[in-house]
Amino acid sequence: MTSLSINVNKFALIRNARGTNMPNLVDISKKCIEYGADGITVHPRPDERHVKFSDLEELKNLTDNYEKIEFNIEGYPSDNFIKRIIDVSPDQVTLVPDPPEALTSSFGWNCEENKNFLTDVINKFRENDIRVSIFINPSSETLSKLHTIKPDRVELYTYDYAKNFNENKESAIKPYLEVTNYLKKEFPHISLNAGHDLNLHNLGYILENISEIKEVSIGHALVCDSIDFGLKQTIAKYNILTQHQK
Ligand code: PXP
Repeated sequence: MTSLSINVNKFALIRNARGTNMPNLVDISKKCIEYGADGITVHPRPDERHVKFSDLEELKNLTDNYEKIEFNIEGYPSDNFIKRIIDVSPDQVTLVPDPPEALTSSFGWNCEENKNFLTDVINKFRENDIRVSIFINPSSETLSKLHTIKPDRVELYTYDYAKNFNENKESAIKPYLEVTNYLKKEFPHISLNAGHDLNLHNLGYILENISEIKEVSIGHALVCDSIDFGLKQTIAKYNILTQHQK
């Protein structure tokens, strides 16, 4: 079984567009949980264009109401991020190497170059009982340093898989199978998450082939699908009102 953690950043982006509280992020996250999510993920970026640091406490309180629902916070571990995340104490933090202005996460950690930094940061979270996952490329290059860094989990960056899936799914998944086999052999205690650009078309195949994936975090496609699947019913509701006036 793989947990589905819904990334609610895009809902926050819509909320922020009007400077009001619509949609209400806590209500949307509650609906995500009640409709079947196993967890809520957020990625508060330094410019707070999606989820804001001030949202974190309320979302943590929400997920705390449910026994098996996890709260995962992603982000670059700046001093400010580390402090805010330790204060909120989510179930999991996912460390990404994004520069502050990044549109979205677009590469995993170079574990060789960041070995000391990641080791120190992970120790801080661990002392506070927060599980740590780090975002990695689908390649074993630089991963030997995981011996020292010792994260609880790694999150496979699935952009390349999603990009190549439509052309040739067997070759799209090949590097992911290789890195999973490497991790299983060298680091059997490190568990596996996956995320980025996963959607209704490509999710099933990766989970069938890499059953070790404990959690997927999905945001963009899920929000687009919700618009798609909800559009017909929504317009019908408006039509009832407009036709009523004719
Ligand atoms: N994992 C990480 C580290 C991310 O930064 C993101 C996007 O915020 C995701 C997963 C989810 O990607 P998507 O929105 O494409 O589903």
